[in-house]
Amino acid sequence: MGRIVYVNGRYVPLEHAMVSVEDRGYQFADGVYEVCEVRAGRLIDERRHLARLVRSLDELRVAHLMSLAALGIILREVVRRNRVHDGLVYVQVTRGVARRDHPFPPAGTKPALVVTARPIDLAANERVAAEGVAVITLPDERWARVDIKSISLLPNVLAKQAAREQGAREAWLVDRDGKITEGSSSNAWIVDRDGKLITRSLDHAILAGITRAVLFNVIRAHGLSLEERAFTVEEAHQAREAFVTSATQAVMPVVRIDDHVIGNGAPGLIASALRRDYHDHAEAT
Ligand code: PDD
Repeated sequence: MGRIVYVNGRYVPLEHAMVSVEDRGYQFADGVYEVCEVRAGRLIDERRHLARLVRSLDELRVAHLMSLAALGIILREVVRRNRVHDGLVYVQVTRGVARRDHPFPPAGTKPALVVTARPIDLAANERVAAEGVAVITLPDERWARVDIKSISLLPNVLAKQAAREQGAREAWLVDRDGKITEGSSSNAWIVDRDGKLITRSLDHAILAGITRAVLFNVIRAHGLSLEERAFTVEEAHQAREAFVTSATQAVMPVVRIDDHVIGNGAPGLIASALRRDYHDHAEAT
């Protein structure tokens, strides 16, 4: 079965789907996106993802194209038409199509909306999680407003590729103070020697991950202690456990950071428990 995507008001086969070469997303990366997990055909944490989408749009002053209810219907329709049981749905909104000029296009230019969906191999994900993943650390070379989920992801792409070339799954980005901000497409967490969870507090230097936010509830339910603060590369290397969070992998244990084996080299107990219970605390709609 061929894939169906939603492009500016129409559901079309992927191979026939087209956007203009003058889409501002294409020319300026002038747009935002969201990635939402699909599990058993339902959207995970849709409400929070769409709320963040609205925030990103507002930060960039991109007009609202439709209500969140209408957008939710499109997301579901794309999931349904692609028969995605477990996977992800991707939504991208750009400032629209206009002659290439840096200032905003004329008032009334309609934002462009693209929605795609694809399956994820849950069993393969579980196998990766059972082993844990490696991460490398790299300088954070992104712009100063990565709290906006912008489609401008070049530094993230380069960092991820560097990780892959070094046999790692993710790159943890390091700010000028030697503190880790987040992963190239995930939030970064460690567990210290006392069993306390540490993740960077929210500011303009990281994305306010939805998985991160929901995980706070899981942590509370487990009676674990949590500190929201930036941690150093050194602390990460010495951590008892580490993991990353994102919509597409929930809680993914980290077992190596650069050349340092974390814990005993296997996924930690806390990361594993949080992964196991994550979906009990997420909203499925
Ligand atoms: N990435 N930080 C960055 C830079 C991200 O790109 C992501 C998500 C996260 C985690 O956010 P959330 O828990 O809301 O997924 C943190 C998505 C999955 C992506 O770009 O594919």
